Amino acid sequence: MTLDHADALRLLRDGDLAIEGRLVDASNATLYCAVTLDDVIAACVYKPVQGERPLWDFPDGTLAGREVSAYIISVATGWDLVPPTVLRDGPFGPGMCQLWLDVDETVDLVALARSDHPDLRRMAVLDAVVNNADRKGGHLLPLDGRVRGVDHGVCFSAEDKLRTLLWQWRGLPLPAQALEVLSRLRAELEGALADELHEHLTRREVLATTRRVDRLLTSRLHPEPSEDWPAIPWPPF
Ligand SMILES: Nc1ncnc2c1ncn2[C@@H]1O[C@H](COP(=O)(O)OP(=O)(O)O)[C@@H](O)[C@H]1O
Ligand SMILES: [Mg+2]
Repeated sequence: MTLDHADALRLLRDGDLAIEGRLVDASNATLYCAVTLDDVIAACVYKPVQGERPLWDFPDGTLAGREVSAYIISVATGWDLVPPTVLRDGPFGPGMCQLWLDVDETVDLVALARSDHPDLRRMAVLDAVVNNADRKGGHLLPLDGRVRGVDHGVCFSAEDKLRTLLWQWRGLPLPAQALEVLSRLRAELEGALADELHEHLTRREVLATTRRVDRLLTSRLHPEPSEDWPAIPWPPF
């Protein structure tokens, strides 16, 4: 069954959440759940704020809102790179809830992460905008020829922290379509998009997001790895 974003969002927001298991390779309390509304059922990930592991560089209790913010930016780009994600109450209190995608297990993630798949190139731009500090191979979800990304808890720091495996376009000109999307994003950050983000992020973090978009529009280049912080996540997969 495939759900469009509007149906998925309704299901994730209003459905009954039943915990079915805990994802073992996850660093936080990341729960695999069934979500049911009327006779529609889907799988989802539920990360209660309570289960967030404290981090030195992100304020406590803010990771779920960062995940939702990354979804909001993905929607604004029109690139559909992040599965539908909401903030809601659940059995362990408020948390983020994201549609589960049954990935194609036959895809080699190591090869995929090094490829020039167009979704990954867009994701590299998305990551530069949201300042993703953790784009690992395991956070890539291949399905039906598309690639989407998950685990956006450590995004939107006001300090530059881009940490990713997707450096294959570093220093190359941004595609014309990416520049169009970034210009549109920049305009939307003057209005409703900023309001939406302010529900989850500080003023400073939203402002820093606008600055990162400005930087991309000025350089017109994919970012280069910095020497000031580790540019590759560890472990990478
Ligand atoms: N929406 C999703 N659909 C499919 N698989 C997912 C989804 N979210 C997470 N996963 C899988 O579960 C793993 C752990 O989730 P992740 O979001 O990385 O949790 P954590 O924040 O604890 O690291 C991911 O690496 C990915 O393989
Ligand atoms: Mg993870």
